Amino acid sequence: MEHSKPIQWFPGHMAKTRRKLKESLSLVDMVIEVIDARIPQSSRNPELDSLAAGKPRLLIMNKADMADDAATTKWIAYFQKQGYYVLPADCKTGKGLQKLDTILNEALAEQKEKWRQKGMVGRPVRAMVVGIPNVGKSTFINRMAKSSSAKTEDRPGVTRGNQWFTLKSGAQLLDTPGVLWPKFEDQEVALRLAFTGAIRDQILDCEELACDLLSLLAAHYRSFLLERYKLEEPLPEMGYELLELVGRKRGMLISRGEVDTTRAANMILDEYRAGKCGRITLEHPPVKG
Ligand code: G4P
Repeated sequence: MEHSKPIQWFPGHMAKTRRKLKESLSLVDMVIEVIDARIPQSSRNPELDSLAAGKPRLLIMNKADMADDAATTKWIAYFQKQGYYVLPADCKTGKGLQKLDTILNEALAEQKEKWRQKGMVGRPVRAMVVGIPNVGKSTFINRMAKSSSAKTEDRPGVTRGNQWFTLKSGAQLLDTPGVLWPKFEDQEVALRLAFTGAIRDQILDCEELACDLLSLLAAHYRSFLLERYKLEEPLPEMGYELLELVGRKRGMLISRGEVDTTRAANMILDEYRAGKCGRITLEHPPVKG
């Protein structure tokens, strides 16, 4: 998909975040990366694999309630094959998160055995939580904080702003401040992040974005598109014609029967982001051929 104007990114304090991340990593036994189940690859941080090398990794596929279940199942298998622990979840309701403790214990079973042999009984499991913007990291943290037994505490020697939560099981979670960056140099990734609303609309051409989204839906989730906007086959092939058609169907007209495509585009993006078009995953694991 070609977007005429490259989507610009503002990495901000990337170097500082990277340094803080490294510091925090030295304090934990494993890393929990919250990702968006609708764009499981695009919502990951490209450097975490190398930064967290050697530590067990858990991917929380958040917003699973908005993603296509069949695609989520495929992604789980794909990530597990690469050695990740994976937990699909809906952090808004907490669905899926009951399994978190079991997974943390399983991921660190070997480590815990080593501690036991060294007499380090009662050493709590420590994990840090990371995620690029909009994946629902705060929602996850808030939910876990609610069910945690101990209050948030600042520890000496820990980067200022770091927050720890002790879960009922005794496991400790570290919430790291600073914005984690996605793979912003890849335009396809940027586009998918824009579809989900992870990139601010002010820097985007909404009409073009909506056209791209409609084309993608027509290709992969056609029946959802037909149903949502009460359309009939044959659909026009071009995204812009689809946009006009949807706008017309919704009565979004300006003078002389012309469609208000800006309004239609915003509506389509809003509806996708709110999950109104159905449970749709925008990228699929690579198939080896
Ligand atoms: P962040 O810290 O990673 O930047 O993300 P944050 O928790 O702020 O969540 C971003 C948006 O995603 C929020 O919606 C939040 O409610 C929503 N969200 C988080 N987890 C889930 C989930 O599992 N399922 C669904 N459906 N949505 C989720 P918002 O529109 O920005 O806020 P609000 O309308 O909820 O107040």
